[in-house]
Amino acid sequence: MSNQTSHQFPVYSHPNAASTVHEQKPVIVRLENVCKIYGFGETAVQALADVSLMVEQGEYCAIMGASGSGKSTGMNIIGCLDRPTTGHYYLDNLDVAQLGDTELARIRNLKLGFVFQQFHLLPQLSALENVMLPMVYAGVKTAERRERAVAALTRVGLENRLHNKPNQLSGGQQQRVAIARAIVNRPVLLLADEPTGALDSHTTQEVMQIFKELNASGITIVMVTHESEVARQTQRIVWFRDGQVLHSHLLPEDIAQVASL
Ligand SMILES: Nc1ncnc2c1ncn2[C@@H]1O[C@H](COP(=O)(O)OP(=O)(O)OP(=O)(O)O)[C@@H](O)[C@H]1O
Ligand SMILES: [Mg+2]
Repeated sequence: MSNQTSHQFPVYSHPNAASTVHEQKPVIVRLENVCKIYGFGETAVQALADVSLMVEQGEYCAIMGASGSGKSTGMNIIGCLDRPTTGHYYLDNLDVAQLGDTELARIRNLKLGFVFQQFHLLPQLSALENVMLPMVYAGVKTAERRERAVAALTRVGLENRLHNKPNQLSGGQQQRVAIARAIVNRPVLLLADEPTGALDSHTTQEVMQIFKELNASGITIVMVTHESEVARQTQRIVWFRDGQVLHSHLLPEDIAQVASL
């Protein structure tokens, strides 16, 4: 379903694709020499400086780094919420760096799921209605919307809370609704920006268990976090410093050493 519209966009083909001997996993995120500059002239800030990064299908990555190192800027570009100033971004082989706002919004809805620190649920809607909403924009029929939303909420253990509004749910439950909403359109990539930042340690563990299960079922996940304990539970840590990728495959045991430099 997610590829229905791919013919409308420039499709990236790796120059060596035909001659590749070993089977490679599809690349979901391919940033090539991405720069992002905010502002102009004397006040210009280079938030990303020549970032190249690849995430393959099925990976589970944490993005870490000091405050101001470019993590959110990078996530905004990966999430098609912003565009690089220069460089290329291929999402699921689509060249998205130059797309207009409407096309980007469409790609976001079709291909991406988002989870944020503050959940961002609509307070007047029930858990079920919140999860059904992205499918309205995707044009899914009402009966199927309901069926898929119930399945997604069941997957995160909330089958008994379908009709509760966000203020009738705990923080961890609200984040689980947000995760159900993020996966209900079957995205190629799940992006999470500090998903456990507003949760206590017990609830953080519950939410991390859900991410782990989703990844085990094949969902590709990229997560920004400040918490080493959270990053440790992913498969791969990408470390940003001063707008660049300092390490693209940092081991959990090396976090403390890199963080102290
Ligand atoms: N809209 C903006 N306008 C101008 N400068 C910006 C803007 N957004 C970010 N920056 C600057 O770009 C740099 C990278 O910011 P970014 O938000 O990506 O960092 P971060 O790694 O997410 O930090 P944090 O851990 O504090 O969230 C910083 O120097 C920041 O001040
Ligand atoms: Mg940030």
